[in-house]
Amino acid sequence: MKCSGYMSPEYAMEGRFSEKSDVFSFGVLLLEIVSGRKNTSFYHEEFELTLLGYAWKLWNDNNVIDLVDPLIYESGFKMEIIRCVNVGLLCVQEFVKDRPNMSTVVSMLNSEIKDLPAAKQPAFTVRRGAYDSESSSNQNQQICSINDVTVTLMEGR
Ligand SMILES: *[C@@H]1O[C@H](CO)[C@@H](O)[C@H](O)[C@H]1NC(C)=O
Ligand SMILES: *[C@@H]1O[C@H](CO)[C@@H](O)[C@H](O)[C@H]1NC(C)=O
Repeated sequence: MKCSGYMSPEYAMEGRFSEKSDVFSFGVLLLEIVSGRKNTSFYHEEFELTLLGYAWKLWNDNNVIDLVDPLIYESGFKMEIIRCVNVGLLCVQEFVKDRPNMSTVVSMLNSEIKDLPAAKQPAFTVRRGAYDSESSSNQNQQICSINDVTVTLMEGR
């Protein structure tokens, strides 16, 4: 998946695409699902953080539950939810070598692999151009390209 909002740093900056770029996109998606928020429209007034930066902050504050969408949170699944966030953070690591491959991701999510490596700071933690009005006027438009076919998704009119 090559969508703005899901692009790995090496793809966004150098056009290099690999399985690990998909792992990165998957990690963003996982964090979006757990938090119930979209990366591209995520906004935190207090800190200029992206969804990834906010997830990383709460992870370090030992406060992962604050990230979780109250609609999906069930205290009986706390450990599983924390595991999802941990896996998500591992997927969005800045360097390709620090990201697991997809088969490892699956084993981590279904707890075949119990001890997860410690996540380091992910890529894209700070919002760039937070006060850039041009970027906010474009936020309803996402450019996606799948297998070199470019599709422009417009939300709303
Ligand atoms: C997430 O959204 C921010 C804007 O809020 C953008 O700068 C960034 O490229 C997006 N993608 C990732 C993977 O963080
Ligand atoms: C995925 O990574 C694991 C651990 O590094 C490795 O053992 C495995 O061979 C890799 N699998 C694939 C399909 O690359």
